[in-house]
Amino acid sequence: MRLAVLTSGGDAPGMNACIRAVVRAADVNDFEVLAIRRGYQGVFDDDIMPLTRGDIIDTVHMGGTTLGTARCADMYEDDGPARAVEVLSRHGVDALIAIGGDGTFRGCEAIERAGGPPTIGVPGTIDNDIAGTETTIGFDTAVNTALDAIDRLRDTARSHGIIHIVRVMGRHCGALALAAAIAGGTEAVVLPEDGHPAEGLVEQITAAINHGKQGIIVVVSEGARDSIDGIAADLTLQTGRSHRITVLGHIQRGGRPSAMDRLLGATMGVEAVRAARQGAQGVFIGMQSGALVRVPYSVAAGTQPLDERLTGVRKLLS
Ligand code: F6P
Repeated sequence: MRLAVLTSGGDAPGMNACIRAVVRAADVNDFEVLAIRRGYQGVFDDDIMPLTRGDIIDTVHMGGTTLGTARCADMYEDDGPARAVEVLSRHGVDALIAIGGDGTFRGCEAIERAGGPPTIGVPGTIDNDIAGTETTIGFDTAVNTALDAIDRLRDTARSHGIIHIVRVMGRHCGALALAAAIAGGTEAVVLPEDGHPAEGLVEQITAAINHGKQGIIVVVSEGARDSIDGIAADLTLQTGRSHRITVLGHIQRGGRPSAMDRLLGATMGVEAVRAARQGAQGVFIGMQSGALVRVPYSVAAGTQPLDERLTGVRKLLS
């Protein structure tokens, strides 16, 4: 059997552990593996080469993705999927393992619809925004990276007694912001899932100040309906405290993967090879109730609800 593997969309810490697991599991099964460079772009550019055990030595601890990644416009063109299928069949690909987010899975579906090989998706994104899986490769590391920044801001916020507003990534999903905010004990968090304008925010911050809090930290998720500048200006106006804004940005995407993301990458990679060997198609590997399961791509198109355990304690602890 000949497998191809690619990483697509935003990189996420732990992707390399997953690539490594795919190569090693394939090797045990005597399968060949082809690396597709820079996501689907590598299919269109025919940037495809053998990937062997020698290529994945000492990569498990590395952030980013050694295969490179891209957001590929060609795939969305009318003839994109058919062109991709032509390249994959020319390389004799029997199954494609694609590590990435919901856009990556849409590419998988398009390839299968166009008559291409079976595909197996593996959820890799710091956003944890894929319905049908409790977590994604990269999420845990990104939460810890955001948390580290919040802890540092806490020191200076307390020293100066001002309000720090921190923008955390996550696209349209508040999972990353919510987890970092609760773990960081921030005074408030504003999420895309919230109403507009940010409900009760001023009251929450005023209460914290009245409790004697010097430093105030408010996490604002990237997809929040209110602008971060508007939130900051309003808080200063209503509380009389000055503010600073920190946009964490792509720092959250880099860095050494946490143990949890390496383990997730390793187990999902092995499971993806098993699924390919068993002829699975139209599915991605998800985690549900702590177990690895095969989930149809159609499920990923839905909305990922926030973790109820966290929303339940949000008002008390953040
Ligand atoms: O999907 C991961 C992510 O980092 C999102 O949190 C963010 O919205 C987006 O990618 C940023 O994408 P880009 O690197 O293309 O600007």
